Amino acid sequence: MEREMVLVLDFGGQYNQLIARRVRECNVYCEIHSYNISLEKIKEMNPKGIIFTGGPNSVYGEDSPRCGKEIFELGIPILGICYGSQLMSYVLGGSVKTAPVSEYGKTEVLVNKNSLMFGDVSEKTICWMSHTDYIEKAPEGFQVTASTPVCPVAAMESPEKKLYATQFHPEVMHTQEGTKMLRNFLFKLCECSGDWKMDSFVDHAIEAIRKKVGDGKVLCALSGGVDSSVAAVMLAKAVGKQLTCVFVDHGLLRKNEGDEVEAVFGPEGPYDLNFIRVNAQDRFFAKLAGVEEPEAKRKIIGEEFIRVFEDEAKKIGTVDFLVQGTIYPDVIESGLGKSAVIKSHHNVGGLPDYVDFKEIIEPLRDLFKDEVRKAGLELGIPEYLVYRQPFPGPGLGIRIIGDVTPEKVHMVQEADAIYREEIAKAGVDKGLGQYFAALTNMRSVGVMGDERTYDYAIALRAVTTSDFMTAEAAELPWEVLGKVTSRIVNEVKGVNRVLYDCTGKPPATIEFE
Ligand code: XMP
Repeated sequence: MEREMVLVLDFGGQYNQLIARRVRECNVYCEIHSYNISLEKIKEMNPKGIIFTGGPNSVYGEDSPRCGKEIFELGIPILGICYGSQLMSYVLGGSVKTAPVSEYGKTEVLVNKNSLMFGDVSEKTICWMSHTDYIEKAPEGFQVTASTPVCPVAAMESPEKKLYATQFHPEVMHTQEGTKMLRNFLFKLCECSGDWKMDSFVDHAIEAIRKKVGDGKVLCALSGGVDSSVAAVMLAKAVGKQLTCVFVDHGLLRKNEGDEVEAVFGPEGPYDLNFIRVNAQDRFFAKLAGVEEPEAKRKIIGEEFIRVFEDEAKKIGTVDFLVQGTIYPDVIESGLGKSAVIKSHHNVGGLPDYVDFKEIIEPLRDLFKDEVRKAGLELGIPEYLVYRQPFPGPGLGIRIIGDVTPEKVHMVQEADAIYREEIAKAGVDKGLGQYFAALTNMRSVGVMGDERTYDYAIALRAVTTSDFMTAEAAELPWEVLGKVTSRIVNEVKGVNRVLYDCTGKPPATIEFE
């Protein structure tokens, strides 16, 4: 049976995956493709609908991504969002202007409830705007279906041609009734049935992997984190012992973590796969000695990881496929998409050049963290593993500001273990996206007994987040913070001060480096 799908055409906007995710949340399968996909390919895919994303360009820019008229003549419902709406207008003969001031943020929009997009939406509704160019006049045959005082065409449509456009972003949470609008587009205008679920994703992915791998050999870099664990179990289910997982213990893991990973994925664990643990702590510490700059540390850890991995891979011999647990936020934040590079996540890029293999398999590349977790549950991975908080590839190396030494790693491991233990004991871990201790590079004066101390400060971080692209500092109960603080300064040698990080993302990131 052919699978119902919606095609998201990427014009370079920052919310592209969010659009895809919202569509999936409506139980409609969706794929993101570049804006310059051919019409033939689109016809072949036979989507129920197409969504044009936003983008940073102006339709008048020389190198701006464009499309021809023909796509609007396919008879497939199209929703243009932000830049996508301007492009629709521009290509079809409307007029697009540059405003003297940008319209940005939550904006009250007046909608026409006769439009099928807005039938069940309040007449005045808060939407998220983020644009400088705007549609001054809709193309012929279109009617304006929403406006704001400064944006004459906040939405427009031509139901006969099945074309719809919004200047605002229905996919963003700040657009209060955005989900209703997207549902209207998907179900009323594209006539989707909404029968897609995460279990279909998992079954489909396993089937696709099996087909691709055949009787080939597969190698997986397993970190023990949620992403690589889900990817590994998916592969194990698909190809069993054809898979070898290599777990590199770089000495920058949380307290006891290496042994915990081995207990789950090793020969005593429930999964039928080949598991190799490499204890490479000394190699990493030697390479990191004296290095302070965050990106340099990330690069060294990433590079050394590759070397260790390569040594193991050589022992295994040629493999056909390499598995990586890359998930969507890794892709976008590493700048492999069109967004600016924020951090180089070492699990993206890199490995392919060093290991002798035919092809890379990244079964989770399009998913957000919470979707990966859903996939994990579908795969039967125990909840305690699935809901484990994310842990970065470079590990504690990026939770120690400045140079990394075994002593500092020990301090942060102990402090972090205390913090996690107390949070679990107090039962406040449920709503938290991520929480951990980091070692600041700051030493300050304290007093213990009658002695002056000059020791390090530990920073505690706890954030709430749904997708790790943005986050808010969690309001932890004071008693918990107090208990953790007193245990850390008493139990962890070398620490005399504990700070709580109240910063959100943006402007900070979740990790310290
Ligand atoms: P930031 O610090 O960028 O983190 O706000 C967002 C999420 O990504 C995780 N993170 C990483 N994960 N390799 C990873 O696998 C990395 O290099 C890396 N850096 C950050 C971070 O823990 C958070 O969940």
